[in-house]
Amino acid sequence: MANTILIGAQWGDEGKGKIIDVLTANSDIVVRSQGGNNAGHTVIHRGTKYVLHLIPSGILRRGKTCVIGNGVVIDPIALVVEIEGLQKMGIAVGKNLLISDCAHLVLPYHRMLDEHREILKGHAKIGTTKRGIGPAYGDKAARTGLRMCDLMQPELFSKKLQAKIRENNSILEAFGAKPISFRKVNDSYLEAGEKLRPYVANTVVWLHRALQRGKRILFEGAQGTFLDIDHGTYPYVTSSNTTAGGACTGSGVPPHRMDVVLGVVKAYTTRVGEGALPTEDAGLSAMLHGMGREFGATTGRARRCGWFDAVAARYAGMINGIDELAITNLDGLDSVKTIRVCVAYKLDGKRLDVPPSDAARLERCEPVYEEMRGWNRPTHHTKEFTQLPAAAKDYVRVLSAMTGAKLTVVSVGPARGQTIIL
Ligand code: IMP
Ligand code: MG
Repeated sequence: MANTILIGAQWGDEGKGKIIDVLTANSDIVVRSQGGNNAGHTVIHRGTKYVLHLIPSGILRRGKTCVIGNGVVIDPIALVVEIEGLQKMGIAVGKNLLISDCAHLVLPYHRMLDEHREILKGHAKIGTTKRGIGPAYGDKAARTGLRMCDLMQPELFSKKLQAKIRENNSILEAFGAKPISFRKVNDSYLEAGEKLRPYVANTVVWLHRALQRGKRILFEGAQGTFLDIDHGTYPYVTSSNTTAGGACTGSGVPPHRMDVVLGVVKAYTTRVGEGALPTEDAGLSAMLHGMGREFGATTGRARRCGWFDAVAARYAGMINGIDELAITNLDGLDSVKTIRVCVAYKLDGKRLDVPPSDAARLERCEPVYEEMRGWNRPTHHTKEFTQLPAAAKDYVRVLSAMTGAKLTVVSVGPARGQTIIL
C-alpha cells in the first residue's frame, strides 16, 4: 500500500481504529500526527478488546513501527500507563514505538483548566473529554508549552515547570481551584520521562530515512473532520487539525509524499459532546444504544446518533481530498425499515448544499431527507460485497456517490474478519 492518510470524515468515532488495524497489514509504519489521549480507538485483536488512546493501533501487529508525531500532545503519565497496560496484556512495546521529541506535553494544570473552563461555560460548554487537550494546544500556540525534549533534560524541565506552575496556580486560584504542587508534578513527570526516554527521537528525520528506504506509511487520524480546529463546527471542536493536512504538519512528512487519502464514515452519524448535529434522531439513538452500541471509548458517554449526513460528507471529501471511502457499522442499520439520508440543509427557507460556517446557523439547519428501504437482515457474517443484501449494496453505493469517493471498504462488525475489501 502506498503512503496513506486515514481520516475520520464525520465527528470522530467512525471506526477508524479497526480500519487502521486491517490496513496496517500492508504498511510498515503507522503514525499518529495530532490529538492526544482524548482519542479512543477500539480494536479487537485475537479475540481481545484493546482501547488505544495515544499509541497507534499498529502496535498490535508484529514487525510494525509506531510513531507518535510532533503534532500530538502527550500526557506522559497516561502514555506510560498505556504502554505498561499493553505489555501486561502480552503486547511487545519496545523498539517498535517512537515518540517525537517535539511533541508537546499535557500537564495537570491543562486538565484542571479544561475542567474549570467547562464549568464556567455552563450550558455553552463544549463537552470536552477533560484531558487538557485545548489548554495544552493553547500553550503550544502561545509558545509557552513544554515539550518532550524538555522532559528529556530534567534540570531544564524543572526550571520551566516551576515557572509554568506559578503562572497557572494564579489562574487556577481565580477559578477558585486548588493550587498544584510543583514537587509532586515534577517528581511524577520526571519519573514518567525516564520510562519514555528509550522511545524519544527526532521522528521527522527517522520518517524521512524510512521513506528513502521505500517504507510504506499509514497516517492514522484521530477524531474527525468536523472536530477540526479550522474546518469543524467551531467552537465545538477539538484543538488540532483532524483533517488530512494535519498528517503533514503533525509528522514532518511533506504533502507530495502522500499518495492516498482514505476517509472513514459510519453508515450513520454520531457525535459525543455538544454542538450541532443536524441529522440527530432520538429514535435511531435509542435503537443503537439498545443494541449496546455507541458508547464512547474514552469517557463512556452515550454518543448522539443521527442519519447519514451527505452534506457534511461531501464537505469532508472536499477538505480532505478523500480518494477512497470506508463505510463502517453498516450492521448497525440491519433492522431499520426505512433509512434516511440527509441530502441538503434548509435554513430560513433556503436550501444549502454546504454547511454554514457558524455554529449558531448550523444549529438552526433542518435536514432535507431522501428515504431508502432497509435490508432487514443481518449483515455481520458477510465476507464478500456480492453477498450483501441488494438494498445494502444500494445504500453504500449511494453514500459513496454522494461523498464523491471510491468505495473500497465496508465494515460489518468490530472484528478484522468482518471487513469487506472491494
Ligand atoms: P477535547 O478534544 O477533549 O477538547 O473535546 C472537544 C470535543 O471533541 C468534544 O466534543 C469531545 O467529545 C470531542 N472529541 C474529542 N476526542 C474525540 C474522539 O476521539 N472521538 C469523538 N469525539 C471526540
Ligand atoms: Mg473514538
